[in-house]
Amino acid sequence: MNITLTKNSRISNVDFSNLQFGQIFSDHMFVCDYFDGEWSNERILPYSDIKVSPSSRVFHYGQAIFEGMKAYKDDKDVIWLFRPDENFKRFNISSKRLAIPEIPEKIFFNGLNELLKIDRDWIKKGVGNSLYVRPFVFASEPSINATEANAYKFMIICTPAKSYYENQEIWVKIEEKFSRAAKGGVGYAKASGNYAAQFYPTQIAKNEGFQQIIWTDSNNHNRVEEAGTMNLFFKINDTLITSPTSDSILDGITRKSIIEIAKSLKINIEERDITVEELISAHKSGSLKEIFGTGTAVTVLPINGFGYRGNRFSIISNEEKTSDLLKIKLNNIQYARTKDFSHWQYKIT
Ligand code: COI
Repeated sequence: MNITLTKNSRISNVDFSNLQFGQIFSDHMFVCDYFDGEWSNERILPYSDIKVSPSSRVFHYGQAIFEGMKAYKDDKDVIWLFRPDENFKRFNISSKRLAIPEIPEKIFFNGLNELLKIDRDWIKKGVGNSLYVRPFVFASEPSINATEANAYKFMIICTPAKSYYENQEIWVKIEEKFSRAAKGGVGYAKASGNYAAQFYPTQIAKNEGFQQIIWTDSNNHNRVEEAGTMNLFFKINDTLITSPTSDSILDGITRKSIIEIAKSLKINIEERDITVEELISAHKSGSLKEIFGTGTAVTVLPINGFGYRGNRFSIISNEEKTSDLLKIKLNNIQYARTKDFSHWQYKIT
């Protein structure tokens, strides 16, 4: 791999104790090109703007997908990724759906390993600190023919991260007009356009005082799906409930890890449909104890309440939060502080 190191590291200008998600990028980036039917020219360069033709299909047809993962440093300065094999698998599942050529495993992992070794100082120790890693691929071929491209770029960039929401109350609005995804669509893929399509309804929800939307099924707007940047869990009495994944719900890696951790702790957990009526009636009877979201960026995020048809339903419980317990267990695995689930820990060497 060709490696060009920066002569002007920006790290000394960064206030690592005060980071807004996704604003500052580490010193280097990984780039690889697809051309003539193969991925080649793997290289690491100083992070910088890139030259792309204005006719590249990505700008016109949105042929692009991405992943999100986090690198952690343990107390001995060893760097760990959490289940990157799952991100790799999903990267290619998303690519396939968008007619993007799949990335060979070796290129994906070599890129990650080399980049994280070079930018290792950007990963700070301590629970809560991480380097968010963003692999992505886009159609770079200069053509506005509305078909899949013949040339692509695969890149990895990294942004130091603390929490996605800093000390905020989180309220989510149950959406009944707009849809995130439909049967047979691309909801299960991390297609860039899935996120763009959420901005407008989310903007409306934000103006009403919510941080995110709870998406419901596009047919009846009755079954709860996900929140766009996170999967959702509801605790009713002593049982956690999360919607089963489908072609309209992202198969979240944090989601599936939380399910396994909960099972290992003998917490009742059900993967099944949950309707808005069930939520409202559980709230009414006092049995809705918790709502939380899971995702790479948010990790495990307690939700303070939800809005539905102009009414607000706040979650109040004096019990110890199951989400707190699950988050601690998850963090211990991510920061390699435990041998539990050690097969999920991937060491950067
Ligand atoms: C992630 O958690 O990695 C996501 O994909 C959410 C992102 C859009 C902030």
